[in-house]
Amino acid sequence: MKVTLKIHRFNPETDTEPHYDTFTIEANPNDRILDCLNKVRWELDSSLAYRMSCAHGICGSDAVSINGTPALACQKLIKDYSSSQTILIEPLKFFPNVKDLIVDLQPFFKRIKSIQPERPAQTSTVPLEKERLQTPEERARIDDAVKCILCGCCVAACPVILEQEQRFIGPAAILRAQKYIFDSRASDSVERMHVLEKPYGIWGCKSYYMCTLVCPKNIKVTEQIIKTKKKIIHELHPSKQVGEL
Ligand code: FES
Repeated sequence: MKVTLKIHRFNPETDTEPHYDTFTIEANPNDRILDCLNKVRWELDSSLAYRMSCAHGICGSDAVSINGTPALACQKLIKDYSSSQTILIEPLKFFPNVKDLIVDLQPFFKRIKSIQPERPAQTSTVPLEKERLQTPEERARIDDAVKCILCGCCVAACPVILEQEQRFIGPAAILRAQKYIFDSRASDSVERMHVLEKPYGIWGCKSYYMCTLVCPKNIKVTEQIIKTKKKIIHELHPSKQVGEL
């Protein structure tokens, strides 16, 4: 079958504005969008720039916007877009565009760093004498967050990022903090909850559920954020009522 891709292009060395190029290729309904991008680059335009690595939904590097929705190009098939005459492929929204489909991830990792992921290593002064075991139930509390591959899809889908002019910490960083806050081996969950309460932190989340809808690892991101909010209210503000979260 013939497939037409409309791809966002921007070369900072030659372009002042982005534009779109359209490519029509021969593809199978079971081909992945990543296969199509490879075909365009290998056979039609070797200058097309995009990221990829594992090609199996593990590294998160090929996150792009496909027909307006963030997704991993290696996870989406042509037949997923069979109702579209043309498949629109763009860089992730809210991320500065570097070239074609490549975005600058520094602002994203700045958000992650704002929840102080390095904190346990800095504050742990007591040498461990033995392995700290967890029960299956304790491990299950952080299962979702452990699955996160930091692809950025949730941030690109989050309406609050736009509403708060990109100052909101975003779902990926809150999910990472949830991992530390609910980890039975951690001793600094109270400090971590205070960090999440900073301006543009966890209370910015309005539970739009877009992060959950687009997550390529099927993580219940919004549910984990709500659980974290409830824990913060319970432990830091016990006199407050838990309303709609
Ligand atoms: S290339 Fe690694 S997740 Fe798609």
